[in-house]
Amino acid sequence: MNVCKDIDCVKNFVKSQKQSLKTIGYVPTMGYLHEGHISLVRAAKSACDNVIVSIFVNPKQFGPKEDYSRYPRDLKRDLELLEKEKVDMVFTPDIETMYPKGFSTTINIGPLANVLEGAFRPGHFDGVCTVVTKLFNIVSPDKAFFGEKDYQQLKIVEKLVKDLNFDIEIIPIPTKREEDGLAMSSRNTYLNKEERKRAGTIYKFLLKAKEIFESGIKDSDKIIEQAKEVLDVDSIDYIKIVDKDTLEEKKVASKYDRILIAVKIGNTRLIDNIEI
Ligand code: PAF
Repeated sequence: MNVCKDIDCVKNFVKSQKQSLKTIGYVPTMGYLHEGHISLVRAAKSACDNVIVSIFVNPKQFGPKEDYSRYPRDLKRDLELLEKEKVDMVFTPDIETMYPKGFSTTINIGPLANVLEGAFRPGHFDGVCTVVTKLFNIVSPDKAFFGEKDYQQLKIVEKLVKDLNFDIEIIPIPTKREEDGLAMSSRNTYLNKEERKRAGTIYKFLLKAKEIFESGIKDSDKIIEQAKEVLDVDSIDYIKIVDKDTLEEKKVASKYDRILIAVKIGNTRLIDNIEI
């Protein structure tokens, strides 16, 4: 497995593979890998000749009061896990490589970035779009793999690719869950034992909402209010039933809509979603 810290190292590898008509699958990550990331890697392995994973905790997608400095990191363990998966290359740039002195461009994809997560984390998706654009230009993959756990991010990246004519296919991968249904996330490590137990009620809430919808209730407020009975969190940033593509809020839910939730348990902010 090649580990590259600089951009030319990745570009040279990609160029040589493309000359031999080999396809490139790409999994962008911020490291501290878990089974969710590994499922993206395995999907990439089965769909492409080569798999490149990047590990970069992108400062531009964290707000000033967010967890950038304490975001969990363990490069040694991540590389061991990726080696086991027979990944071809890991790109581990440092901040100066991604954002050299004088860097000033920001990618803003418009209104989709200002709702839901964007409303609570101003600038977050500008940071995501800026880094993803750079990473796509560096790696030039044929296919890139994104988890459905970050559903709004997935939709925004799909739009970015369409709007900017990237010749990249975005492949969505279903959320990996712990035994009690909690969506796997590097941030789960922030939870203490009691908080971790309560975090399991997020998925229970989502399933309950789906069950209520399937029982015939279509009014979104009613579905959410009734399902909330099973939710044990400290605060709710938003719970919304939205159109699966436009992310527009639906007052009356219909099949294939998505229910999205963002909550806080202790100091930890968690998000999740399912198809209703
Ligand atoms: O989902 C993530 O881990 C990040 O937002 C991404 C896509 C790697 C960009 O930093």
